Amino acid sequence: MTGSEDSEGKRRWRRPDVKRPDGGGRLTTGKQKVHKKKLGKSSREWVDRQLNDPYVRRAKEQGYRARAAFKLSEIDDRFRLLKKGARVVDLGCAPGGWLQVALERGAGSVIGIDLSPVDPLAPAEIIEGDFTDPVVLADLAARLDQSPDLVLSDMAAPTTGHKQTDHLRTLALAEAAARFAIAHLAPGGTFVSKVFQGGAQGELLEMLKANFARVRHWKPPASRPESPETFVIAVGFHGGNGPTD
Ligand SMILES: C[S@@+](CC[C@H](N)C(=O)[O-])C[C@H]1O[C@@H](n2cnc3c(N)ncnc32)[C@H](O)[C@@H]1O
Repeated sequence: MTGSEDSEGKRRWRRPDVKRPDGGGRLTTGKQKVHKKKLGKSSREWVDRQLNDPYVRRAKEQGYRARAAFKLSEIDDRFRLLKKGARVVDLGCAPGGWLQVALERGAGSVIGIDLSPVDPLAPAEIIEGDFTDPVVLADLAARLDQSPDLVLSDMAAPTTGHKQTDHLRTLALAEAAARFAIAHLAPGGTFVSKVFQGGAQGELLEMLKANFARVRHWKPPASRPESPETFVIAVGFHGGNGPTD
């Protein structure tokens, strides 16, 4: 059975027509009936959200692997980050919505990494592994022929139900992603990361301000209003050597 976290960190099942292991019946969209009787409250809410969410429908119609694809499209529409030929690294890339958008918008090379397996999406290079594992990180770094222009992170720690713990774990992933970006980005490069309510704060914000010309926060319309997530966008990487743009 395959599964991965959705953009709000909730468990999602990659094949909505596949029977779920929690005995929750077949989850289908369109005209087929949904058997929700055996589902728990949070699973029922998840099903309702999926069925009523226009972004889920649009993702299906347009062939995106995840509704999260629209978040990157909207961020790019606003901040124009995806330049033709750009070298992109996508941290927490499963099931591949952001990879699709990056390629569609002209990225020259894309490397993605995730804990979960990702169906191939040529020419993107995909690593299955834990980004916080030094061995995996070294493998990722070794695959970079040249410095990336754009480092993306949509990584979300699996939710525990304890808000503060979830927040801290996702913040730790954003900090690790920022450290990677600072170590590898090309001058003038960009870093985008999911962060939770309140945005980048403390050490993360200081790190970004010291290394990028501008740091902004933005919650794209595709990010569910009830979700605590927002995104930090840091542009003009100068690695502490003064602004490059
Ligand atoms: C919200 S999903 C990403 C959706 C993706 N942007 C897309 O458009 O398809 C978050 C992903 O982060 C991944 N993740 C969380 N912690 C990770 C880690 N330590 N290393 C690699 N991936 C991680 C999860 O496995 C999950 O697939």
